[in-house]
Amino acid sequence: MITLISGTNRPNSLTSKFSKIYYGMLQKQYSATKYFDLESLPVEVLHTDVYEKGKKPDAILEIQQEIFLPTEKFIFVFPEYNGSFPGILKLLIDVMDSRIAFSGKKAALIGISTGRAGNLRGMDHLAAVMNHMNVHVLPFLLPISGVQHEMDQNTFKETTEKLVNNQLSQIIAF
Ligand SMILES: Cc1cc2nc3c(=O)[nH]c(=O)nc-3n(C[C@H](O)[C@H](O)[C@H](O)COP(=O)(O)O)c2cc1C
Repeated sequence: MITLISGTNRPNSLTSKFSKIYYGMLQKQYSATKYFDLESLPVEVLHTDVYEKGKKPDAILEIQQEIFLPTEKFIFVFPEYNGSFPGILKLLIDVMDSRIAFSGKKAALIGISTGRAGNLRGMDHLAAVMNHMNVHVLPFLLPISGVQHEMDQNTFKETTEKLVNNQLSQIIAF
């Protein structure tokens, strides 16, 4: 199972728009896929019991069982917020049981920004967090700067499409 995670809960984010196009391309190349947008995170993610095994709210356990447990490879698409990846994405990572959700799995990272850096630093930060949890990160990190110019309604501009296809082939073979 390859799961694409759209890494912000900001409504109508460009990350979500980019993720949906990316996911359409993934579905054409691979049959077992899931899509999870942090915009659909339940409010229980803020509950103080989230860290305690045996006390985690049902809504969190459901995400862990249905999304994270069956996933072998993640594709994280996430925006640059204040020079890094969004706090809500770190919170989601923190409320999972890392042995069930992450250990021994693989991940590809795509950084999104309207600015010039394409979230390079945020990708390094998330790669370090993933490595800490024994996740193998695909060396091809894909920075998307000026994201607003890189897509139309349902498609990427040509150069971005080539880069995405290249990264997709690599994570499928990884
Ligand atoms: C809280 C917040 C912090 C941001 N910080 C940065 C930043 O440090 N550098 C940058 O290039 N863009 C920054 N942006 C702009 C995002 O790159 C821009 O909103 C882009 O569309 C991706 O975010 P989105 O998926 O929420 O739309 C920030 C946006 C928000 C909402």
